[in-house]
Amino acid sequence: MDKIDFTGRVAIVTGAGGGLGRLHALALAARGAKVVVNDLGGSVDGSGGSASAAQKVVDEIRAAGGQALANGASVTDWDAVQAMVQQAMDAWGRVDIVVNNAGILRDKSFAKMELADFRLVLDVHLMGAVHLTKAVWPHMVAAKYGRILMTTSSTGLYGNFGQSNYGAAKMALVGLMQTLSIEGAKHDIRVNCLAPTAATRMTEGLLPPEVLDALRPEAVVPAMLVAVSEQAPSRMIFAAGAGTYEAAHVTLTRGVHLGVTPDTPERLLAALPRMADRSGETVPQSGAEQGSNEVRQALAARR
Ligand code: NAI
Repeated sequence: MDKIDFTGRVAIVTGAGGGLGRLHALALAARGAKVVVNDLGGSVDGSGGSASAAQKVVDEIRAAGGQALANGASVTDWDAVQAMVQQAMDAWGRVDIVVNNAGILRDKSFAKMELADFRLVLDVHLMGAVHLTKAVWPHMVAAKYGRILMTTSSTGLYGNFGQSNYGAAKMALVGLMQTLSIEGAKHDIRVNCLAPTAATRMTEGLLPPEVLDALRPEAVVPAMLVAVSEQAPSRMIFAAGAGTYEAAHVTLTRGVHLGVTPDTPERLLAALPRMADRSGETVPQSGAEQGSNEVRQALAARR
């Protein structure tokens, strides 16, 4: 069996002062990575902050014989994120792995949600990941190596009541991953997503106790380790919880070619079941590929 080993690699894990991020940081360090443990130490809704959250995890890693540095930046602060990457470069000269994990919740039904709560959730999840990824990208291009993980969510992929802000942010990370995996390919930068299900403070009030018991956060960590390993795939959406590992895909049906005539809307309405029929569906390798499939069907219909 191929061993997963991070000796000589440098990783940055955001939101690693607790929950899944802490376990990610500990697991990477246990397999040889030097780790920047980032966390602003706030509450689950993103308020407050304490530098000690990240430091405690650094202390744990060091006590186990690993190497780690604490960083208290908010991922929403572009200057502070750039300084964090510089901190890693100054200490260890490289950044090989980024685990974008920091996150908050501001749940409310869409009718009751304030725009400020929508913007803040987008800012932490989406722009937080954009900031760190943007700051490490030139270093990874220069090194011709990089492994980047976005933490998405089943809410982003499939929706959940009261989480329109969070779902939008989480699916945006899938879109970011799709294009970055294409742009990163020639530099051996591989980009994946992880949709975890785990009992953490984030899910405390949301699930019954016996379910929370099955959802040990440790059961998510193996998917993270594979997704940022040397052997990692790229453009994979890993789903992981309770020791089950799945891949989610954004698929496309074969569709129907109807052309454009005055009655196309009515014919499309009648053809909806055929359009949505999932037999033979595919996963296009790019947006351009999907577009060219459509043109190919149009040209074939003309012959
Ligand atoms: P958590 O609340 O225990 O951990 C999130 C961490 O991010 C906290 O330590 C917090 O201080 C930190 N953080 C928040 N805002 C930050 C900022 N601006 N800058 C730096 N750090 C910040 O929650 P959990 O469950 O460990 O979540 C980790 C990731 O997994 C999040 O992205 C979450 O959305 C995602 N997730 C978790 C699921 C679960 O079942 N627990 C389900 C789906 C996704």
